[in-house]
Amino acid sequence: MLDSKLELDNKEHMCDVLELNKVLDRDITQLSGGELQRFAIAMSCVQRADVCVYGKPSMYGVVTMPYSVREGINIFLDGFIPTENLRFREESLSFKMVETAEEIIIDKTRHYSYPSMTKTLGNFKLTVEGGSFTDSEIIVMLGENGTGKTTFVRLLAGDMPDEETDKQTLSVSLKPQTIAPKFPGTVRMLLIKQIKAAFMHPQFQTDVLKPMNLENIMDQDVKTLSGGELQRVAITLALGKPNVAVYLIDEPSSFLDSEQRIIASKVIKRFILHAKKTAFVIEHDFIMATYLADPCHCVRGPTSYCCYCDASTVAAFRHEPIPGVSRDHFPA
Ligand SMILES: Nc1ncnc2c1ncn2[C@@H]1O[C@H](COP(=O)(O)OP(=O)(O)O)[C@@H](O)[C@H]1O
Ligand SMILES: [Mg+2]
Repeated sequence: MLDSKLELDNKEHMCDVLELNKVLDRDITQLSGGELQRFAIAMSCVQRADVCVYGKPSMYGVVTMPYSVREGINIFLDGFIPTENLRFREESLSFKMVETAEEIIIDKTRHYSYPSMTKTLGNFKLTVEGGSFTDSEIIVMLGENGTGKTTFVRLLAGDMPDEETDKQTLSVSLKPQTIAPKFPGTVRMLLIKQIKAAFMHPQFQTDVLKPMNLENIMDQDVKTLSGGELQRVAITLALGKPNVAVYLIDEPSSFLDSEQRIIASKVIKRFILHAKKTAFVIEHDFIMATYLADPCHCVRGPTSYCCYCDASTVAAFRHEPIPGVSRDHFPA
């Protein structure tokens, strides 16, 4: 496809800087989320253009007098412009790792485990070392693009590993990384169809539906939602699925703005810990990852080829440094 759009003489350079050489022979449908994003950037960079526009335009805004960078950032985080006496966000954005007032007393009673597994996809091979987890635990998975994070959660969700005997049988709910809306109806119809019990439940309404701010898109067609709206619906659907022990949430921050990321982290954390469930969350956003994380798994290896998932770096991203665990354990 790159060749078909080639208008400039820069294909080799773009493939080098965007690290696409290893995946050039793969089908586009097989690319991981990050690989696909880099491929899309390459597609636009090999074409001739005078102006490139990225992102989506906003609806309306308020323009203030210029501030210094420091003041401006602090005003943005506060959500309040003192000179205009204008509040543009109800909550201020806080980077505090632990909110003591919200700390929940955790009582871990159930233990789950998954076996050692391997999964081969074309010339990519993921080796997973067996591991275990308890309830009331949120495990964040980190790793470069194309190291097999999505492949790992799919194995936990019941995808067939190379050896059939190792197949997982946990009751899980998966929020997939790529969300392709096919439902022919409104958000309300979709929620009622898929998670009726949770949708009707006052606790779920207060803890999830309201903070995820779905009220004003309830009667909109699912197929017309923006990326961020779809992401909020997908997270809600994943949390609302009944009779689930483990929630697998693949990149919940994609398409969400900074406010929504903090709200989504709070919703996921509160829901999982209150319901005494477990969540595996794949997340690149460090604010979200550190806010959510109990332990942290790390997927390592040369990207796009042979990767290894283990729990040896568990806890490396806890809030205090762990003796013997340093950042050197993480891929550069
Ligand atoms: N069906 C497939 N055939 C060949 N390669 C694949 C297939 N599916 C995924 N891959 C490759 O496997 C690697 C891991 O993918 P994935 O688990 O999605 O990575 P990530 O860690 O970014 O979530 C990627 O390099 C991707 O291109
Ligand atoms: Mg992925």
